[in-house]
Amino acid sequence: MSGSAANARIVAGNWKMHMGPSRARAFVEAFRHPEGREQVEVLLFPPAVSLATLVDGLRGRGVQARLGVQNIHPEREGAFTGEISAEMAREAGARFILVGHSERRQIFGESPDDTARKIAAAFRAGLTPLLCVGETLVERQAGRLEEVLGRHLDAALSPRGIRDRIHDGERFLVAYEPVWAIGTGETATPADASGAHAFIRSRLESLLGDGASGIPILYGGSVKPANAAELLNAQGVDGVLVGGASLDPVSFAKIIDGAP
Ligand code: 13P
Repeated sequence: MSGSAANARIVAGNWKMHMGPSRARAFVEAFRHPEGREQVEVLLFPPAVSLATLVDGLRGRGVQARLGVQNIHPEREGAFTGEISAEMAREAGARFILVGHSERRQIFGESPDDTARKIAAAFRAGLTPLLCVGETLVERQAGRLEEVLGRHLDAALSPRGIRDRIHDGERFLVAYEPVWAIGTGETATPADASGAHAFIRSRLESLLGDGASGIPILYGGSVKPANAAELLNAQGVDGVLVGGASLDPVSFAKIIDGAP
């Protein structure tokens, strides 16, 4: 995918630690997929405790959204108090998993090696990983954007087994999420996003060869109804990963409506 008009866009909502079952139920009851935008692929990443509510609510309403979880433990099961495995997430209705989100990296100390292990676990369980990569403001100002993105991608794709899965046609998604744009109201310009996406695309090609061609690259960081359309139309942007604005069914629908 190249962000060209021919490709269906992806609009994903990361609810972070918001929206327990009752608010998830209210969201699904109020959400309307905009008419004429049926080709847009919609993904929702609720807290795991709200998955069952969404599975049930989406089925009942015929809404074409697919579900994911925000984190997993890489082991299948065991004495890991408080954790859930990829297999459990899948059994509960998840089909996608966010990995390497900057909040996991910065707040919870997720290492590049942890990220790779979670991707491997996702494939093992039949979940599609959505890998987040992005630089902090300090890194950007120091001219280290490409070094940081390259390091995140190299680490995530270093295990041979992961590259083989992607070569074999397993779906894999990447999101460029500049940390300075997350939850700040600051958004990368379409040109900034296109530049970073082009670098990510070329690094994926050098790591995966032909296997890189089908990998969508999403942009995330303060995406709102007011800026979504120009980002979704930017060269190399195959979709958006939305935090705050995905909590409101009306603004989330407006973002979908902005997709080409
Ligand atoms: P905001 O849209 O709230 O900036 O969050 C972006 C994000 O982190 C999505 O994963």
